[in-house]
Amino acid sequence: MPVPEYLRAHYWWAYIHPKAVRFFERQWLVNLILWGNYNRLRSAVLEQFSRPLTGRTLQVACAYGDITPLMVNRMDASARLDVVDILPVQLGNLAAKIGPHPQVDLHCMNSAEMAFADGSFDQVLSFFLLHEQPAEVRRKTLSEAVRVLKPGGRLIVLDYSKPHWRNPLRYLWKPILKKLEPFAGDLFDQGLTEWLPKQVGLTTELSQSTFGGLFQLVVLRRSPD
Ligand SMILES: C[S@@+](CC[C@H](N)C(=O)[O-])C[C@H]1O[C@@H](n2cnc3c(N)ncnc32)[C@H](O)[C@@H]1O
Repeated sequence: MPVPEYLRAHYWWAYIHPKAVRFFERQWLVNLILWGNYNRLRSAVLEQFSRPLTGRTLQVACAYGDITPLMVNRMDASARLDVVDILPVQLGNLAAKIGPHPQVDLHCMNSAEMAFADGSFDQVLSFFLLHEQPAEVRRKTLSEAVRVLKPGGRLIVLDYSKPHWRNPLRYLWKPILKKLEPFAGDLFDQGLTEWLPKQVGLTTELSQSTFGGLFQLVVLRRSPD
């Protein structure tokens, strides 16, 4: 699977470099990068899933930290989890974290072009992926995430957003992010709806911001056909 140019150019240090996984796969470091919010954000996402987790779930792209192992621990006997990532090294890291599991499948795929049939999943999760993608890729990823959702299924997105005007990070963090993560500023400038597909009915069930607006949790439901 060819590695997209934006990953090679801007995220080699975080995901591709041979030492990246060993360096970044530390809960405390991920927490530090998220200004101490990792547990809170992860719990807010997990709360959006039924407990036990039922049905078929897709996680679009691996993530450092324990969000995926915790999802796996919550699955009931008939639930299934599919995780997509474009980098075999990241899928290997996830496989090491969760171990072999008969209800979990890992796929080396591009989020912008996923090989799943339409309407395959009850829920799709995008956890801190969209800010890493250029606008066109982000648009395709969201279009694919919605396409593979069953009618009535839910898309759960956690990512950066524009901090409130009183939050100093609004002025400090954007220039830093711009250097390290050049596409993240898009999420400061525009709401998610900008990149959502227009031809499919989606209802916003939740749109919540935390930490002075720096992070957003958005839950969308695909209209039943
Ligand atoms: C989901 S984000 C998570 C970032 C966050 N810092 C974390 O680890 O919690 C990072 C992952 O997205 C993957 N990724 C980026 N672009 C992708 C694409 N087009 N298709 C599939 N995976 C992609 C990267 O390989 C990486 O494993």
